[in-house]
Amino acid sequence: MTDQNNNDGIKRRVILKTVAAIPLAATFGLLLSPFLRFLRPTLGPLDVLGKSDQPLAEEPIPTFTDDMFPEPWTCIEFMFSQKYLEYNPELKEVRTIPGFIVKLPSGDIVAYSRICPHLGCIFNFVKNPEECAKGYNYKPDGPVFACPCHLSVYDIAQAGKVVSGPAPRPPRKFELEKSGNTITVKSLEAGSIA
Ligand code: FES
Repeated sequence: MTDQNNNDGIKRRVILKTVAAIPLAATFGLLLSPFLRFLRPTLGPLDVLGKSDQPLAEEPIPTFTDDMFPEPWTCIEFMFSQKYLEYNPELKEVRTIPGFIVKLPSGDIVAYSRICPHLGCIFNFVKNPEECAKGYNYKPDGPVFACPCHLSVYDIAQAGKVVSGPAPRPPRKFELEKSGNTITVKSLEAGSIA
């Protein structure tokens, strides 16, 4: 009889512990999701194993060929569209970002968003240092990107380094993919679009 009572007592304790653990486990799960989104911001809410919500490139994907860059400092404008997952009725939002793709004297080809990291104006490619000195109050050593709003100037040969004006950092870079003589713009550096 005593053994039976003991067994019943143990069973009750196990059941009570299990019931008490459910809210704890639920709380832990709910806290885990925002923590994982903090570590990997591209995860969807409460969707730890789901696909990344990193923006996707939309058609038409900007594509170039080597012969479009016959000489150093050839600069071509393009438009790049990104599709964001959004919690609106269409479940998406498409944003179009203007860009410049430039051939450096080293032969490397680089591409940047034209959205100025200062306050979001669209900046220009200024090939002539004299023109930059007159229009943007700074004389560079070579071609630069320069913003007409508050005169930030970015040195393209130094990875977009800010050489004049109030911009806090270089413009965002596009990732390019080279296949044969074709260059494709794949994605924009992570972060905001500016
Ligand atoms: S927005 Fe470009 S310098 Fe201010």
